[in-house]
Amino acid sequence: MSTLSEKDQMKKKVGEYAATFVQPGTVIGVGTGTTAYWMILALGAKVKEGFDIKAVPTSKQTEDLARAQGIPLTTLNDIEQLALTIDGADEVDPGWQLIKGGGGALLQEKMVAAASKRMLVIADEQKLVPALGRFPLPVEVIPFGYKQVYRKILALGCPSVTVRAAADGSPYITDHGNYILDCHFGVISDAASLGEALHDIPGVVEHGLFIGLATEVLVGYSDGRVGELKQ
Ligand code: A5P
Repeated sequence: MSTLSEKDQMKKKVGEYAATFVQPGTVIGVGTGTTAYWMILALGAKVKEGFDIKAVPTSKQTEDLARAQGIPLTTLNDIEQLALTIDGADEVDPGWQLIKGGGGALLQEKMVAAASKRMLVIADEQKLVPALGRFPLPVEVIPFGYKQVYRKILALGCPSVTVRAAADGSPYITDHGNYILDCHFGVISDAASLGEALHDIPGVVEHGLFIGLATEVLVGYSDGRVGELKQ
């Protein structure tokens, strides 16, 4: 009997199915998180059977996992463009705008997705929302003067901002040495404008709004189906 929760089973199915979208001989971006985990395991199994790919990881965690699975790695600096990136999401709206960064890897994830011809999003059905904003928007900021950034985000109309904490209560540190501010905006009606306003704040490194990047979305449903969304 499987010990996976219903949610984890959805993530496993959609992650494993996503691995079938990868073409041999390509360089792909590999995402971060508990859904991407299953995709990386499935890719690792294919590589062990001789499947030829190279991957650019979107975080240290993914780099370690992919390496342990025997997946050959390369870097964003060593390639011009990726054929495909496969990554999870915290929220997906009907226009395929995303919130990402629940796992803290949004900066590298966005750079890898932006360098890719296609971005395949893998999500369980609970990630589909009518409008972004139920999930607090992660914003990566440099530690220097971060309280100034914090105040400026509140001034944008965000009712509550929290500094993401590590297990010991100290600020969570990203792979790139930064902090994450989790911004509880509530419903985000104009993600593009909010994204621009956040980028305008000195000290903001990147935010978790992914706009115009997703080209395909695969969804795992609680009844065991995996479906591809159509726009
Ligand atoms: C990592 O920073 C995130 O963007 C993840 O891709 C996102 O949080 C989805 O994670 P799960 O697949 O674990 O839900």
